Amino acid sequence: MKVLFAVWELVPFFQVGGLGDVAKALPKNLHRQGVDVRVILPFYKALKLHRLQKKEIKKFTAIYDGKKQKVTIFQIHFLDENIPVYILKNEKWLDIPSRDTFSFYNLCVYEILKNNYLSWIPEIVHCHDHHTGLIPLLIKHNNLKFKTLLTIHNLNHQGKYSLDVIKRTGLDHSKCRVIQWETKKKQVNFLLEGIIHADLVNAVSPSYAKEILTEEYGCGLDEIIRNEGQKISGILNGIDYDSRDPVHDKNINYHYGVNDSPIQGKHLNKKFLQDKLGFTVSDDIPLIGFIGRFESKQKGLDIMHKMIRRVNLQKFQFVILGQGEIEWEDQFLWLASFYKKNVAYISVFDKKIASQIYAASDFLLVPSRFEPCGLIQMIAMRYGTLPIARETGGLKDSIIDGVDGFLFKKYSSFDLEMVMKKAVAIWKNDKNKINEMIVNAMKKDFTWDKSAREYIKLYNKLCSPSETS
Ligand code: GLC
Repeated sequence: MKVLFAVWELVPFFQVGGLGDVAKALPKNLHRQGVDVRVILPFYKALKLHRLQKKEIKKFTAIYDGKKQKVTIFQIHFLDENIPVYILKNEKWLDIPSRDTFSFYNLCVYEILKNNYLSWIPEIVHCHDHHTGLIPLLIKHNNLKFKTLLTIHNLNHQGKYSLDVIKRTGLDHSKCRVIQWETKKKQVNFLLEGIIHADLVNAVSPSYAKEILTEEYGCGLDEIIRNEGQKISGILNGIDYDSRDPVHDKNINYHYGVNDSPIQGKHLNKKFLQDKLGFTVSDDIPLIGFIGRFESKQKGLDIMHKMIRRVNLQKFQFVILGQGEIEWEDQFLWLASFYKKNVAYISVFDKKIASQIYAASDFLLVPSRFEPCGLIQMIAMRYGTLPIARETGGLKDSIIDGVDGFLFKKYSSFDLEMVMKKAVAIWKNDKNKINEMIVNAMKKDFTWDKSAREYIKLYNKLCSPSETS
């Protein structure tokens, strides 16, 4: 089975969010399970190759905006794995993200497939999020035989651009169902095009796959997604067990594993971090973490902030790591500057401190309004840190309330506070129960193997003529 994996970010070369992690770990696991998977993405100026050698494999021209554009395909190998990664260089459109970057990148992928510039013919093109939303459309309307799968990592980011970008790719508007409905606004919605034209679509958790059919979570696309309902499914992401491992993580000071003094290991890491943050060093006060993009629409920053302001801070220590919307960075900075002994806010994302928070914290807050999958709760659980999360999307699918974490239903600072206080009360008064939950969380299987098998099932379905022709 040959699969071309089209994505706009890839750890460790360029990352914006969880998608970059998935783009690394999923191909690795597909490859281990026998799939010939190759990754393709733009070669932005910001892409860091970390001294990897790149090899030029082809130069070609694509017509964009009526003009000839020169594109060079370089190939690198994906760290230790033997997975080719193709990076596409074009100084005008691909160096720096602009409104034309994704349409041009999508056009390049189409040209590469049409002309077999890789000297390798995939059966399937696996697209991710709106950045690759035009690929299924280009393939379908030009009658290429490749099958397409679109994975939705986040429905809230849809990639809405002026119709000009479509014209520049040379696509004929009249062929596009949805574009016709949108002509008044003169906007094309890349994600929507992807959903309509892909042969199969999946979301990154079974619950999110159901949620996006509803008005509450559908981000305006629910009716259209419901129409395409028969081709939509959900597959929960995994995490990369090689790099997320408290036994070997180089970023933490005290290593531990589920069979190797996990409670003691966590205590030592907690002491270290409390001291580093200038908090009182004590095991009688719970240390509660948050790690995430500061995106207020999604991540529940408002209810977390309200809750922290309301509770008696003498009783808790909060460590918050995240960057994004300036307004929210300011709010947490302010909070931390007033309550230095009990609230720490770190605004610059750093892998080392993230690992230290996972290892040291007693609990991790994940109060998201919506969460397609969420990786941090899984990483936290692997490090024996119990998530306190909203019962939505992938959080609902990865946490069992009272067994390996705590869930609250309603999106409200009061419900978050109530569940957090309940968790802390158990932590204070019933150490056996908490220790049992920590072990449950650490033992949980979030490896990619199972999810990769599910993706292979979808690939097989795509290739079986009766299913998707
Ligand atoms: C997006 C989603 C997140 C998901 C990640 C990887 O960042 O917001 O929930 O875990 O993609 O699929």
